[in-house]
Amino acid sequence: MALLIKNIKELVQVENKPKLKVAGKDMAKLKTIKDAWVYIEGDRINDFGKMKDIPDYSKSWGMKMNVIDATDRMVFPSFCDSHTHLVYAGSREIEYIDKIKGLSYEEIAARGGGILNSAQRLHKATEEELVENALPRLREIMMQGTGAVEIKSGYGLTVEDELKMLRVIGRLQYMTPLKLVPTFLGAHAVPLEYRSRQSEFVDLVINEMIPRVAAEKLAAYIDVFCERGFFTVEDTERILIAGMKYGLRPKIHANEMYCSGGVQVGVKYNALSVDHLEYTGDAEIECLLDSETMPTILPGAAFFLGMDYAPVRKMIGAGLAVAMASDFNPGSSPSGNMQFILSMACIKYRMLPEEAINAVTINSAYAMGLSEDYGSIAVGKKANMFITKPIPSYEFMPYAYGSNKVETAILNGEMVKS
Ligand code: NIG
Ligand code: FE
Repeated sequence: MALLIKNIKELVQVENKPKLKVAGKDMAKLKTIKDAWVYIEGDRINDFGKMKDIPDYSKSWGMKMNVIDATDRMVFPSFCDSHTHLVYAGSREIEYIDKIKGLSYEEIAARGGGILNSAQRLHKATEEELVENALPRLREIMMQGTGAVEIKSGYGLTVEDELKMLRVIGRLQYMTPLKLVPTFLGAHAVPLEYRSRQSEFVDLVINEMIPRVAAEKLAAYIDVFCERGFFTVEDTERILIAGMKYGLRPKIHANEMYCSGGVQVGVKYNALSVDHLEYTGDAEIECLLDSETMPTILPGAAFFLGMDYAPVRKMIGAGLAVAMASDFNPGSSPSGNMQFILSMACIKYRMLPEEAINAVTINSAYAMGLSEDYGSIAVGKKANMFITKPIPSYEFMPYAYGSNKVETAILNGEMVKS
């Protein structure tokens, strides 16, 4: 099956020589083609160009071909959402009221709410129920333009429940055209019964969870919530070393509530990404500069928890790459809408639209280990893209916040229906 999209007002984020990520000043560059076409064969991008140079695809070797006329519409590569916790049971709007009344995220967590609340609910849910709960979330983000998404475990916190979560992510991959990337986050919170013996919980993660996760090949990456009140740098180090022995590359939660040392420990173990980074100083920037670790910001969590925003201008100014993800989860960011993330990048971090678009496409693809195949319009890459509604410019995407500007999602070369 082939698909030709023609008369595209502007084809956004095209690459002739694909890069794995963009950093510093290059983040403000975004290559586009006005009055364009893109031709897809099977699930891959076959070619693209300007309408005046379009080949005669009508004589297309007998292959069945669909044609979409995208007059007045733009085409973007699908968003890559490199950090979510979107498999969960129930919701936590009651804690949200507590937050409105003045309790902090840490205070709610300290009294057994937060992640532990979600863990109790997840414990009671069956795999089937978790699949049924997650599917509408996946459908929603797909129709909002996402094409690949990382999903973490971390609401299990026991061996069996962590495995249950990861198996659910594995099952979901067969039920959605989205590309899913599973990450093991056994060290997300310390269960109440381990509060006075945290190192024993770390032992459980290392000795029982990691070997089982690896044996069943349930995850590609390993994450730790390295934060005050959660896991220390020493805990993180032990867990990362154990995970790496089983081939799990780190991707960690760092510096959300204070300078946790998480960035340094992530870089030390060649993490693919360090995420959150609200508390990022010169030492963290320095340490990231010579690394292969992608700094990833999560505007949804900073917005929802009313926190300070990561110093992104300073980071890009220093020459760093920045990726951006939704952090979709029931506690600190109950939305996976990457269009809203784009808007927040521009409004709250003063990122230029071009920088924001690079952060949610090629750089967030890198932060999942997918940028050879996803994150831009390039020959040979997966045909994951979306066609917008009629819009005047690509800058309109972040500018017109709150409405869904995506009209048609195309994943693996096929139009998807909600
Ligand atoms: O990324 N920070 C840790 N984990 C999530 C929150 C999870 C939750 O509150 O349920 C986050 O913000
Ligand atoms: Fe998170």
